[in-house]
Amino acid sequence: MPIPESFIQELKLRSDIVDVISSYVNLKKAGRNLVGLCPFHNEKTPSFSVSAANGFFHCFGCGVGGDVITFIKRIENLDYVDAVKFLAQRAGMTVPEDNRNDGLSNLRNRIYEANREAARFYHKQLYTPEGKEALEYLRGRQLTEKTIIHFGLGYSPKSRFELVNHLKSKGFTNSELIQSNLANESKRGYPFDRFSDRVMFPIIDLYGNVIAFGGRIMSDIKPKYLNTSETPAFNKSRNLFALQFAKKKAKGQLILVEGYMDVIALHQAGFENAVATLGTALTTEQAMIIKRYCDEVVICYDADEAGQKATARAISILRPTGLNIKVLTVPNGKDPDEFIKSYGDQGPGRFRMLLEKSGNDIEFRLNKLRARYNTDITAQRVEFLTESARLLSEIDNRIEQDIYISKLSEELNVEKSAIKQQVMRYVKSNNRQAGAKQQRELSRMISAENDKINSEKPYNLRAANAEEALIALLMYDPDTALKILRKFSSDIFITSFDRKVYEILQDRAMKGYDFSLADISGEFTNDEVSRIAKILASHPRENDSEAAAREYIGVLREQAEQLTPEQIANADNDTIMEQLKKLREKKK
Ligand code: GTP
Ligand code: MN
Repeated sequence: MPIPESFIQELKLRSDIVDVISSYVNLKKAGRNLVGLCPFHNEKTPSFSVSAANGFFHCFGCGVGGDVITFIKRIENLDYVDAVKFLAQRAGMTVPEDNRNDGLSNLRNRIYEANREAARFYHKQLYTPEGKEALEYLRGRQLTEKTIIHFGLGYSPKSRFELVNHLKSKGFTNSELIQSNLANESKRGYPFDRFSDRVMFPIIDLYGNVIAFGGRIMSDIKPKYLNTSETPAFNKSRNLFALQFAKKKAKGQLILVEGYMDVIALHQAGFENAVATLGTALTTEQAMIIKRYCDEVVICYDADEAGQKATARAISILRPTGLNIKVLTVPNGKDPDEFIKSYGDQGPGRFRMLLEKSGNDIEFRLNKLRARYNTDITAQRVEFLTESARLLSEIDNRIEQDIYISKLSEELNVEKSAIKQQVMRYVKSNNRQAGAKQQRELSRMISAENDKINSEKPYNLRAANAEEALIALLMYDPDTALKILRKFSSDIFITSFDRKVYEILQDRAMKGYDFSLADISGEFTNDEVSRIAKILASHPRENDSEAAAREYIGVLREQAEQLTPEQIANADNDTIMEQLKKLREKKK
């Protein structure tokens, strides 16, 4: 695997951490650092901090942190080598070819290649006699030539072997065809086309890779859609259809619809910020991705009961992201595609109007509540009011909250102040609950059992604190570091995780390599890198770092002489007496 050290150095120079993170997180200056909303957990107030000078990030909320490579590993869900490749591509560099097979990453690339070739093949089929019906079908659904090409739509022929034979002629193996899920495996072990006689929708990721296909049957036979199953190159809960186009047109807003055809019809009508999930309910991962590209999402699901249920579920997934959520209900039980088509030339304009008057999710949820109660009956009116107050208590914006309270007060003919009081009561209890949750989280973080990275720390707190301060100092100040690393062996460390970090710094220093976080991150797991970033984030640079280093080493030496709790439990009497004597002398 090893990628040459010199290459990583160059890559690091060309991959400014602020530039890289800025394409995922909206960063604002705060003192010497930049802060923003953490992309790795849901939060409303920024606790994600990036240190440009020191090249690392750290989230004070969820504890995740690291260098630029770790950031890409986490956010793009890549392994180390692929994260390096990803950054290299961005920086216009080519990773020196690696003649050893790095298994999964290679397979994934083969799948991308097979999919790309398949997409080309399916598209060409549209213009053959056999594909004529499919082309007519797409035209019948009022898609233009331009749209068909833009989305790379295609047709999978009836015969179960045409794609398989084509791809084999291009050098793909049976195993690659099966692992890409372009082919199924027969009982006798040979591959045959997974898609047959369907209109094909390629699914493309943010980097232009064809990662999967959706195939629609042209008759009423079920299933209507057949999609690629999960493969090493495709995770359906982590991608969105047409996001590669929509992200460029988002301008702060994305439209979330249910179907591929809805997306395509909307894009054709000029709403190029529409995306869809891939045949499943919206996931938290998708919500986080949406959040990366906009501040507002308009949910535009089918008007039928299933669609409304899906809307309610999507709202509950999206709400914690802090996105502004709107709900657009298409009238007359139509889906967006049907709606636009049914008005011909006027379709886009009418949809624009719907978009403009779409209400936020609070309105949607109030309507749903309203439908459940008969407000002519006093008891039910009270219940409706209670439920509504609970709902309004979730609105962070006080002005917006006030508007809804006024509306309710008019609607139900109840004093505004009474409703307000009720809402505020819920606000307080929400805060209390959030507070209690935070406290649980805190106590979990400081509880002895839970330091998974450095399990010895809770039992050696003073030593571990000195070790961490020392590590931060060494990573900040290479000059002092060289002196210390040359002089002191790792035996001065008491906890094994910190010792490992020190040894890696030492090893690199001896070889003349750099040892900032970006340089060493490849040697650690993501969680370990987070810990090191946290160490850096919680220790500012020292002025006289050499003096400080010696002080920390002094603490470590002192701690080394003391017995650990286990040693105290197991030591013989003489040892204990001697230790007590030492302690008494020190106190004098
Ligand atoms: P049209 O009927 O062609 O207009 O399709 P649509 O895009 O409007 O699809 P629909 O609203 O019926 O379904 C929404 C999405 O759910 C589709 O785009 C698919 O992703 C998925 N879906 C629909 N039917 C099936 C099915 O039978 N199997 C699977 N796996 N997914 C389906
Ligand atoms: Mn439809």
